[in-house]
Amino acid sequence: MNYKKFASMRGALMSKIYINGGKTLKGEITAHGAKNSVLPILAATLLCGGISVIHNCPRISDVDVSLKILNHLGCRCTQENNTICIDASNIINNDIPDNLMREMRSSVVFLGAIAGRTGSAKISSPGGCELGPRPIDLHLMALNKLGFNIFEDHGYIYCDKTKRPNNPVINLNFPSVGATENCMLAAALIPGKTIIHNAAREPEIVDLANFLNSAGASICGAGLDTIIIYGKEKLYPSEHTVIPDRIAVSTYMAAAVATGGELTVNSVNPNDLLAVLNVFEQAGANLTLYSDRISIKSPKKMKFIPTIKTQVYPGFPTDAGPPIIAMLLKSSGTSVFIENIFQNRFKYVDELKRLGANIKTYGNLAVIEGNSKLTGAAVECTDLRGGAALVVAALASEGETEIGKINHILRGYENIEDYLLSIGANIVRK
Ligand code: EPZ
Repeated sequence: MNYKKFASMRGALMSKIYINGGKTLKGEITAHGAKNSVLPILAATLLCGGISVIHNCPRISDVDVSLKILNHLGCRCTQENNTICIDASNIINNDIPDNLMREMRSSVVFLGAIAGRTGSAKISSPGGCELGPRPIDLHLMALNKLGFNIFEDHGYIYCDKTKRPNNPVINLNFPSVGATENCMLAAALIPGKTIIHNAAREPEIVDLANFLNSAGASICGAGLDTIIIYGKEKLYPSEHTVIPDRIAVSTYMAAAVATGGELTVNSVNPNDLLAVLNVFEQAGANLTLYSDRISIKSPKKMKFIPTIKTQVYPGFPTDAGPPIIAMLLKSSGTSVFIENIFQNRFKYVDELKRLGANIKTYGNLAVIEGNSKLTGAAVECTDLRGGAALVVAALASEGETEIGKINHILRGYENIEDYLLSIGANIVRK
């Protein structure tokens, strides 16, 4: 790792965010590219020999790790602001180094692309993460159906192409986002017809299919629960612009409403986050929707929301839960939040309590008391979206909050302090 990268990595680990809360946020921002779209699309460039150009890439540490993986595999990557060029002409490795798997568990999305391009792949088991166990059984089942022999040895997972499948049909017993993506990536270069039933329907799946099809693939049904991939002998380098990050947009809107402010978000497709917009409306916010932007205005007094349940897309997204829970601390009553996707997504709640939050959790259920008197404190991020929740709560707290372990936040939010400064927050990173 060169010194600059080391310094920025060390900086992220050592620096903290300081927020003087109580300011009403007001203004306009432009959404950055979606973390959960750019990661599989960077993996997909492996399938296209030659130089692909990806625009609107968010400058976040998960993208940095993805570029390290692509470089390890033999790609030559260059980055100019939010545009990344990947030359995947010569692939020289088929494994993901253990340290990079540990740095970013979603590196597992490279599995299908590496196997699809080279015919074999080796990764260390991604294990669990801050959200609880993160099995990849569905990923491995899909790859096995696609003709790859899967075996595990000494903590490593090996995939080797053994036979050509005959029009495989993959039934996912859960519409896993990552498993759907790995299946699309591995099947894109397998001649014949692959069908995925109970596929994930997230906008990021559609974005991946759009990139692959622009590279010569033939994928239909993305965004629906059945996806059909007609595999090709070869894919070609392509140019693509990543969709906006609907979770980052949800986070900034929650911050505006938590502080009684108003916000316009440019470059976002309201259709990608309708379930979240519905929650803002239930909270009493006034929304104006345009084809590529959203304006939100806080109510005089935010209403509590009797029940919010996370679901797979197009239901309420689990990733928007933490910032919304933080926002509801300023609502007028008691809200109930039920997390149905991950087993252990409330680790950050103990940190919210240090700010004065009154939240009780019972397994995957959280009871959020509104009318909270929030006051600044020293807190630490436990995970990416939990860190976003701490930022939202700190913005709505009286006094200064010091937020540590912000490396979690920097995984998925580009220049969060600049975005918030631009709409009136008193925030600094040092
Ligand atoms: C993607 O994770 C996102 N990450 C997550 O965003 C997001 O929360 C999640 O989808 C759900 O929308 C990226 O896209 C990089 P899943 P992924 O496979 O693919 C179980 C963020 O904050 N499961 O849909 O890992 C699993 O245990 C991150 O940006 C299996 O049982 O999500 C979990 O309970 C967090 N077996 C559920 O499915 C499998 O083989 C959802 O997982 C795979 C998953």
